[in-house]
Amino acid sequence: METRLTLGARERDHDGRHGETLDTPAVTIAATQTFRGPAWDELPDVRVLESWPPEEAVPGVEVLLEAVVAVGPGELDLLPDLRLVANYGVGYDNVDVAACRARGIAVTNTPGVLDAAVAELTLALMLACRRLVVPSDRFVRDGSWDSIWSRPSRLGHDLAGSTLGLVGFGRIGQEVAKRAEAFGMQVIFNRRTGGLPLDELLRTADVVSLHVPLTPETHGLISREQLPLLQDGATLINTARGAIVDEDALVDELVSGRISAGLDVFADEPHVPERLLDLPNVVLTPHIASATVETRAAMTRVLADNVLAFLRGERLPNEVFG
Ligand code: DGY
Repeated sequence: METRLTLGARERDHDGRHGETLDTPAVTIAATQTFRGPAWDELPDVRVLESWPPEEAVPGVEVLLEAVVAVGPGELDLLPDLRLVANYGVGYDNVDVAACRARGIAVTNTPGVLDAAVAELTLALMLACRRLVVPSDRFVRDGSWDSIWSRPSRLGHDLAGSTLGLVGFGRIGQEVAKRAEAFGMQVIFNRRTGGLPLDELLRTADVVSLHVPLTPETHGLISREQLPLLQDGATLINTARGAIVDEDALVDELVSGRISAGLDVFADEPHVPERLLDLPNVVLTPHIASATVETRAAMTRVLADNVLAFLRGERLPNEVFG
């Protein structure tokens, strides 16, 4: 049932290094799915698991390639020989890094290659919400458009001249800031090491966009008590992780119609709260912030580079430590 492979026995062409011989012992690699992009073909044989978690223990697997699935003590028990978890994605909140480390298992992620794609979707959601793109599209399609343009049924808001509050100002937040500034927005931010205090940012911004990883500290960061701090008519954009916001409280706030939101992520994906589905003030997308051909291929490149480094016994380019 297992696929063994001997990478060291093969001549490989990696990063233009033609004819390089990788001298590594046989390593068994398993994956929860395949990943798109040419770099996938540079990996030695990968056994794609039929289910996650596996129905029974799978001894021998030393490298696991995964995305989104939970990897905690229970799952690790089923892979007793594991030495590397290569996570596809910059966010690795699905992996219990401490449990991995306690067992001597390294964990890697795929940072740096999806910043532009996530920033683009953030802007797309911002524009969609502030300029009423989605309800306007429905309006035309359902035949409701029956008056001249100078008598619109509803007006949106300019991005230009409005204030964007970024919660988190790392790589992705900074890419969003660049694009927002090009649209004429004034950018304010809050981050662990400074910026505007969070409550002040929530009170001040016309649009608030979340760009922090999901950690025990950021779980429920935007709480039921804080959502009312948002101005009437403000817009919340979330392309980070659903659980960063108290989702029930957010749904209540959106049902009231007081604010709008562009949501790419949800607390329990792929479940989307039923009450959001008919709301005109919400734009919903299915966690597609990194979903472009170019970015997914780049993520696979980074994933593969980490695995290949592991197989060569080299330093892992993107090891995470918690
Ligand atoms: C990630 O990489 O964590 C993203 O959520 C994928 O879009």
